[in-house]
Amino acid sequence: MQYRRFGRLDWQVSALGFGCMRLPTVGGDRAYIDEPLATRMLYYAIDHGVNYIDTAYPYHGGNSERFLGKVLKGAYRDRVRLATKLPCWLITERGDFDRYFNEQLERLQSDHVDYYLLHSLNASSWRRVRDLGVLEWAEAARQSGRIRHLGFSFHDRLEVFKEIVDAHDAWDLCQIQYNYMDVDNQAGTEGLRYASGRGLAVVVMEPLLGGRLAQPPAVVQAVWDGAPRKRSAVQWALQWLWDQPEVSVVLSGMSAMEHVVENVACAERSGVGTLTAEELALVDRARAAYLGLRPIPCTGCEYCLPCPNGLRIPGLLDMLNSVALYGDLEGARRRYEHVPEGERAGACQECRQCEDLCPQQIPISEWMARIHKVFGEGQPLEEVLSGR
Ligand SMILES: NC(=O)c1ccc[n+]([C@@H]2O[C@H](COP(=O)([O-])OP(=O)(O)OC[C@H]3O[C@@H](n4cnc5c(N)ncnc54)[C@H](OP(=O)(O)O)[C@@H]3O)[C@@H](O)[C@H]2O)c1
Ligand code: SF4
Ligand code: SF4
Repeated sequence: MQYRRFGRLDWQVSALGFGCMRLPTVGGDRAYIDEPLATRMLYYAIDHGVNYIDTAYPYHGGNSERFLGKVLKGAYRDRVRLATKLPCWLITERGDFDRYFNEQLERLQSDHVDYYLLHSLNASSWRRVRDLGVLEWAEAARQSGRIRHLGFSFHDRLEVFKEIVDAHDAWDLCQIQYNYMDVDNQAGTEGLRYASGRGLAVVVMEPLLGGRLAQPPAVVQAVWDGAPRKRSAVQWALQWLWDQPEVSVVLSGMSAMEHVVENVACAERSGVGTLTAEELALVDRARAAYLGLRPIPCTGCEYCLPCPNGLRIPGLLDMLNSVALYGDLEGARRRYEHVPEGERAGACQECRQCEDLCPQQIPISEWMARIHKVFGEGQPLEEVLSGR
């Protein structure tokens, strides 16, 4: 295994970390972990040098933490550092901090957590837990030794990321969604460098976009096939991350033993600056090939906002683009259902105010109608796209 700097902490982290959100399950029930197989996978990773394990309160309906509590008892516990997270979206009052944390310690069969992260922060959840005193609570827990190090995981825009990084001197780590397709999305490359430059360890999640980069479409596979040095799509994605000095550890949510074996072997060959200039250019070409599949040329600049009707225009456009790039129409339909009804594409009043502001001259109101047909009314994507 290769080891890397973990921010300002005097500790070397394995290049690969084990994300315990996608453990193998049985019977199609996410809450029912295939414990014998998951145990073999976890022990294989630890026996091959993985020393960072990531879980969270909701993973596998709470059973990810319970599983780790069981299997990390004894010698394996001392060989790893364990991260778990406060479910910020469930916090409504100060007493909730202790309530969830104590429940987590009980599940983990432990008296402390090595890395405790405020889970999935965005602008509103951050401000809510901050105003409820989460930093003061965490500082007290740190002083008492129940939390060793404090961090946060993040899903929002770069400006919000910087605001959170700057809000607290004592963050030791942050966790961001980052991969070669997300260089300008959420924290992105700028956020990675910003946090690292301030001494935070940066833990990368979704290195394969939740697995979507593992099975590339033909145009992207053609780019990989053209490489002088052969690597799988997964290996290209992972090595691109490890090439960057600001990345501390790459979490992979491995769901099969073959994933663990491949990703451990890949991590063993990893290092900062291992990709050549030609190979980095090849990754740029793979990204361009993916982006070429987008039906809507939205850059996410947000000049079109605010929409007077409250529609989050770039997010809605991205939903359709993502399906064209990576598939998973059903997943996108489920996400669309979670958008409040008044903010769905179907609520567009066709005022076209946004269109005057869009530098890409995207006919946004027409796309809103199509997006609603696909996600809200269940019409086939191809039919709606070809009706352009
Ligand atoms: N804090 C947060 O808000 C948050 C959010 C997301 C994730 N996380 C954490 O970050 C971890 C990593 O994120 P992620 O699970 O999304 O990682 P990911 O690596 O982007 O996706 C994992 C999926 O990639 C596929 N995969 C992995 N290795 C592979 C291989 N060698 N060959 C082929 N396919 C492979 C598998 O897909 P299939 O199962 O489909 O085969 C696996 O389930 C999570 O497990 C979790 O611990 C945290
Ligand atoms: S056209 Fe639709 S999306 Fe654009 S500003 Fe008007 S209501 Fe919002
Ligand atoms: S202004 Fe145009 S390109 Fe920019 S986010 Fe809005 S729709 Fe996308």
